[in-house]
Amino acid sequence: MRLPGEYRWKHFGILICGAILLCPIAGAEVAEIADQCDECHGADGVSTESDIPSIAGISPFIIEEYMLEYRDEARICRESKYRSGDLERPATDMCVVAKDLSEEEIAEIAEFYGSKEFVAIVQDFDAAKVAVGAKVHRRLCKKCHSDGGSYADDDASILAGQWMPYLEQVFADYVAGDRNMLDKKMKEKTDLLTDEETEALIHFYGSQQ
Ligand code: HEC
Ligand code: HEC
Repeated sequence: MRLPGEYRWKHFGILICGAILLCPIAGAEVAEIADQCDECHGADGVSTESDIPSIAGISPFIIEEYMLEYRDEARICRESKYRSGDLERPATDMCVVAKDLSEEEIAEIAEFYGSKEFVAIVQDFDAAKVAVGAKVHRRLCKKCHSDGGSYADDDASILAGQWMPYLEQVFADYVAGDRNMLDKKMKEKTDLLTDEETEALIHFYGSQQ
């Protein structure tokens, strides 16, 4: 089918704008947004704060889902101080952060951090607990969190090398019913955990450095 000339030109024009004009502007904007995220999540999303998760290298799909949940207040939003930059600013939380972004910006920022490399946190762990945790992981979690919980393409976040105090908080939120889980089957599994097994799992994930 031949399209009328005017129609073809219009589309050609949109393509050119998209390729030459809009893309560099979007790139600059996303870097500006990321500068603000980095003030809490660390340079390029690698966290130096034990209560803040590293977000570098988590799959874009999951980062986007988490941000949309924060925007809709479907996830617990804990108040947090800024950790660098202007420290006089009032504390904020992830629901406020996500509401400030458009859906397009959320998709772009998810792509931005998803393309960075995950860097495992160097932290202390207990070898005996790691051994127990490895077994629990194989039994209940491996199906969805492969390679010890380090495989981003599982679309199930990254657990291996994440901050242990942060993970402790996440599990406490699960127990309290304060934290939504996208996969209801995961709730069935985490509901089975004893306190000792949860602790062992945290050491297992933290030991992968
Ligand atoms: C004032 C500090 C602060 C700022 C700014 C901030 N975050 Fe967060 N973010 C947090 C804290 C704290 C948590 C963990 C909350 C909890 O679950 O207890 C978090 C959690 C997250 C999570 C969930 C990660 C996971 O594994 O569950 C994502 C994704 C995220 N932030 C992305 C971003 C993005 C993108 C930006 C910038 C647009 C941003 N954050 C800005 C403090 C901040
Ligand atoms: C049926 C698949 C499935 C099973 C089994 C499963 N998970 Fe998950 N898990 C997911 C998905 C999908 C996500 C990402 C979405 C979310 O957080 O709701 C996730 C996220 C997580 C997170 C959140 C990380 C973060 O930073 O927010 C933790 C912690 C976790 N899983 C631990 C476990 C543990 C421990 C087990 C075993 C006891 C387990 N999961 C079993 C699918 C699963």
